[in-house]
Amino acid sequence: MNLNEDIQEVLFTAETIAAANRRLGRQIAQDYAGKEPLFVCILKGAIVFLTDLMREIPEAIDIDFMDVSSYGGSTKSSGEVRILKDLDLSVKDRDVLFVEDVVDTGNTLYELMKLFATRQARSMKIVSLIDKPVHRHQAVKADYIGLSCPDEFIVGYGMDYQDKYRNLPYIGILKPEVYM
Ligand code: PRP
Ligand code: MN
Ligand code: MG
Repeated sequence: MNLNEDIQEVLFTAETIAAANRRLGRQIAQDYAGKEPLFVCILKGAIVFLTDLMREIPEAIDIDFMDVSSYGGSTKSSGEVRILKDLDLSVKDRDVLFVEDVVDTGNTLYELMKLFATRQARSMKIVSLIDKPVHRHQAVKADYIGLSCPDEFIVGYGMDYQDKYRNLPYIGILKPEVYM
């Protein structure tokens, strides 16, 4: 099965995404110069974004991974955020930058920021490739935003439906008949 056939429309091409990554990388490199921030990649969706973004930053950084899930196999957030894998590194006194593919309801980052506050991170910021503000119901705002997205179910460049489509190099709208 060719994944491209399930895509209704390409929303952001690989070139558009690369340009957004370059801009974000420049901004973050400037803001965190000399700070050796800890990039916390939220698996699995943010994996592609992290690997591209970090190569736009010519400064010393640390990376670590946290696997969190709230969507399960559905197109809607369950509201319950489950930690499937925790970090290896300590966040105590670290400047943490959460790396997300998309901020939607805000539940995932809301829960993680609460948790990292109790773990005594020195600072916390969020970089999200995509901002999807329509369903936001937590007061979570990304500090760095790559691209803004309408109210569509998007896949590709790390984002999935039922764990598929993450390997598409662009971001596209899934044909509704695929999930209806
Ligand atoms: C998706 C996405 C973000 C989160 C955003 O992850 O990658 O992490 O949901 O939604 P929210 O703002 O409503 O919390 P998902 O739970 O699908 O896990 P995955 O990254 O492994 O696909
Ligand atoms: Mn995710
Ligand atoms: Mg998902």
